[in-house]
Amino acid sequence: MGRMDGKVALISGGARGQGAAEARLFASEGAKVVIGDLLDVEGMRVAAEIAELGGDAMYVHLDVTSEEDWQSAVAAAVSSYGKLDVLVNNAGIWRRGRVEDTTVEDWDAIQNVNSKGVFLGTKAAIPEMRNAGGGSIINISSTAGLVGGPRSTAYTASKGAVRLFTKATAIQYAGESIRANSIHPGPIDTEMIHQVWQGEDNSREESIARTPLGRVGTVDDIAYGVLFLASDESSFMTGSELVIDGGSTAQ
Ligand SMILES: NC(=O)c1ccc[n+]([C@@H]2O[C@H](COP(=O)([O-])OP(=O)(O)OC[C@H]3O[C@@H](n4cnc5c(N)ncnc54)[C@H](O)[C@@H]3O)[C@@H](O)[C@H]2O)c1
Repeated sequence: MGRMDGKVALISGGARGQGAAEARLFASEGAKVVIGDLLDVEGMRVAAEIAELGGDAMYVHLDVTSEEDWQSAVAAAVSSYGKLDVLVNNAGIWRRGRVEDTTVEDWDAIQNVNSKGVFLGTKAAIPEMRNAGGGSIINISSTAGLVGGPRSTAYTASKGAVRLFTKATAIQYAGESIRANSIHPGPIDTEMIHQVWQGEDNSREESIARTPLGRVGTVDDIAYGVLFLASDESSFMTGSELVIDGGSTAQ
């Protein structure tokens, strides 16, 4: 018995990092998984690796800033696997910059992917979740959606938007058994955090020093939280915030 038996899940940004870990874990727990990303080669490889292990996964090209791409991705899930139960809005980008260093282009690019992308994914998924009799939406925010960040203005604003968009979704669709919860990771060892650590004002050692549990998180630390919120184990949770940050925002 898998914890995701019978469920169909769509994961944005699933070609690498946290999204790929979630795709692998969901499939190993019995879900049928649709991976959407801009990185076609990497995304197809993740789907093929899942299939080699006996799981069920497919890849679709998805730019989360495109409403048409979202409609195609949701349609692909339904035509291949019959329905859609779970959406993980995981795709995201990060750029450095205090307020005065942030260009309008940076601001727009980040809001488009991190904030508008979550809105468009949710909008596309809800009608199919309604058809399925309910669903679970998991939005990947950040600790930067809970507290101010010293070096990322637009990113912090975009992740704050994800936190409250999640609560709006939760209260609007609770009556239809469509749940929405946000996850707030601390520093997680992926390509994105290596970009953060490239600056002179931050490093792996500094991230660890700020984290009470004394390490950087792994992709599986987050994937297990996403799995819990995606499965029926969390059926009384909606509009909530799951913080997975080694204790860094508890200080
Ligand atoms: N790594 C961290 O420390 C950390 C901390 C908190 C939150 N997060 C969040 O976790 C999520 C996953 O990030 P990650 O750490 O795995 O980083 P990552 O850079 O490895 O993965 C992000 C994925 O999103 C995809 N993506 C980017 N723009 C896209 C678009 N327009 N359409 C579709 N896909 C797109 C990328 O191709 C990539 O596969 C992001 O939302 C990120 O903001 C990360």
